Amino acid sequence: MDRRRFLKLLGTAAIVGGGLGGVSYSHFIEPRNLTITNISIPMKLGIAAIHISDTHVDTSPYSIDALITVIGSLKPDLVFHTGDILTEIKGMRDSQHLLKRLGELCETYVVVGNHDVWSGVTSDYLKYKLDGIENVYVLGNESIYHDGFWIIGVDDPYTYNDDLTRALENVDSGPRILLAHSPQIIGRAAGKVDLVLCGHTHGGQVRIPFIGPLWLPLPPKYTRYDYGLFAVSETKMFVSRGIGTSFLPVRFNCPPEIVLLSL
Ligand SMILES: [Fe+2]
Repeated sequence: MDRRRFLKLLGTAAIVGGGLGGVSYSHFIEPRNLTITNISIPMKLGIAAIHISDTHVDTSPYSIDALITVIGSLKPDLVFHTGDILTEIKGMRDSQHLLKRLGELCETYVVVGNHDVWSGVTSDYLKYKLDGIENVYVLGNESIYHDGFWIIGVDDPYTYNDDLTRALENVDSGPRILLAHSPQIIGRAAGKVDLVLCGHTHGGQVRIPFIGPLWLPLPPKYTRYDYGLFAVSETKMFVSRGIGTSFLPVRFNCPPEIVLLSL
């Protein structure tokens, strides 16, 4: 084999090997690299809250025991789950189990996401399935006053089931935290609440360095809200990368996360 042909073969092998390595890493390693993200938002509430999202329990690499162990070790005062609890209805039993276990740790507030809705798990259905489980509150376009502040939850904005006007109907003075699955709620929520917690984007799952996510399930107007902390008017919004995956079981430069909020 001449030198030129050998170098060409070596180059091809490096590209194929690198590609296979990248695919293996994105499939087998990064989706299992659960990170804890610490976020401080000065609301003067004096609480530590866990924000989880997109658990996709039926397709997640994490057992419920593993998630509860990590969340429990962070000793939260409250847990917020911003939807996509499951991917398909076969995950219903595990979803009930996860929420029950979270409720045993502390008060847990949950809203549904687009995959829940697509699986038939509306907020009313979830309430029915959680009947008798203590400390877990499903917020479907409604609000609860908790220890000096309001926790408001809307049904999934991505499937156009949100009704923020109705959710805010009984809300009066006091700090306001809004739970919504998709960050596109910010178009309606800015200036009306102090903090919005969301998921849905999974951070894009695959983020190319210096470029960003390859694709986001958001209307074009909202694709800037891919991941992280944003401020719009007086309202802050945190968009989590979530825990599980959907469509393709891969993550790259976008590890799963549990968020510990100091509020
Ligand atoms: Fe999701």
